[in-house]
Amino acid sequence: MSAQAIQPYTLLDDEDCEQRILAARETLGESLVILGHHYQRDEVFRHADFTGDSLKLSRQAASSKAQYIVFCGVHFMAEVADILSRPDQIAILPDVSAGCSMADMADLSRVEQAWQELSSVLDADETITPVTYINSAANLKAFCGAHGGIVCTSTNAPHVLDWCFQQREKVLFFPDQHLGRNTAFTMGIPLEDMVVWDFDQPMGGLSVTQIKAAKMILWKGFCSVHQMFKAEQIDQFKAKFPETRVIAHPESAFEVCQKSDYVGSTEYIIQTIANAEAGTRWLVATELNLVNRLHEQFKHEGKNVHFMSPDVCMCSTMFRIDPQHLAWVLENLVDGHVVNQIRVPEQVANQARTALARMLDVSP
Ligand code: 13P
Ligand code: SF4
Repeated sequence: MSAQAIQPYTLLDDEDCEQRILAARETLGESLVILGHHYQRDEVFRHADFTGDSLKLSRQAASSKAQYIVFCGVHFMAEVADILSRPDQIAILPDVSAGCSMADMADLSRVEQAWQELSSVLDADETITPVTYINSAANLKAFCGAHGGIVCTSTNAPHVLDWCFQQREKVLFFPDQHLGRNTAFTMGIPLEDMVVWDFDQPMGGLSVTQIKAAKMILWKGFCSVHQMFKAEQIDQFKAKFPETRVIAHPESAFEVCQKSDYVGSTEYIIQTIANAEAGTRWLVATELNLVNRLHEQFKHEGKNVHFMSPDVCMCSTMFRIDPQHLAWVLENLVDGHVVNQIRVPEQVANQARTALARMLDVSP
């Protein structure tokens, strides 16, 4: 019998899917682990055995014993699960079109081009450590592995940058300029020592003097969700509720992070609000599904959690993982069919693992 197609599943309602997911999980038992990122919608998130930010879920994938790792998240996360898991384990992404628009802003040919151009003005392999945010394709992690570089997440970015500056004098940070800038500034690197590499322009749009003087070369990428948060939104909210505590994900713009009381990963945001006293009010700059969940979870403790933007800022690619796709991949596994396996070619995986291992070594 061949694998079942997705089409009939798209006609199921969420309640049907719920029952079918529960039944399939029961049958698959310990051969299955479901990992869920904090941005997943509730109908999917509730089925995760483990939830977390990118770092926590990478560690979970690396230590899982299950044969099937179903990743409810986006493409680069499932790639990391494949790279860090045993060769006989199978990483599955319920909808393979669930990508990350920020990750797509850097690709291998542009990064290699940038490296070549930088090498024309200085000895790149001696003076620059390439750092890729985990939100990137596996071949960029492999590039970093091959060039003495490293991966970072929003949790360990300061530890990673510390490590980098012990190796070489400069960092090329891709694809998210904001995480790079916010982290470096907090570590004491002034904005004047940072330049933005515009990948659409020769030499990144920079002069030789600018490149030679820079400590941080920031790729001109950004997250379309977090760019919606603005410093004025904080001012307007605080004019009404001055006691508000502001917390932002470091993919948010510099001005937003500077006006925030706390900056950190999705896991950090959750823990900070969880540990706060009853009666506190929070303005949060991160994805809407997570903020709505925090609002629901903490209102019973008398905490008020608000979303920073007046517009809806959902991660549309995270949202592609729906109960229909989850039911589809699980029922296929029950029938002995693997659909939507994410497999990173061995040579790429080996070099990417080097960069990921360096990251895990320096992570808190
Ligand atoms: P975290 O690692 O903080 O969960 O961030 C992942 C992400 O994609 C944020 O947009
Ligand atoms: Fe990518 Fe932004 Fe979605 Fe995170 S929120 S997965 S960075 S598009």
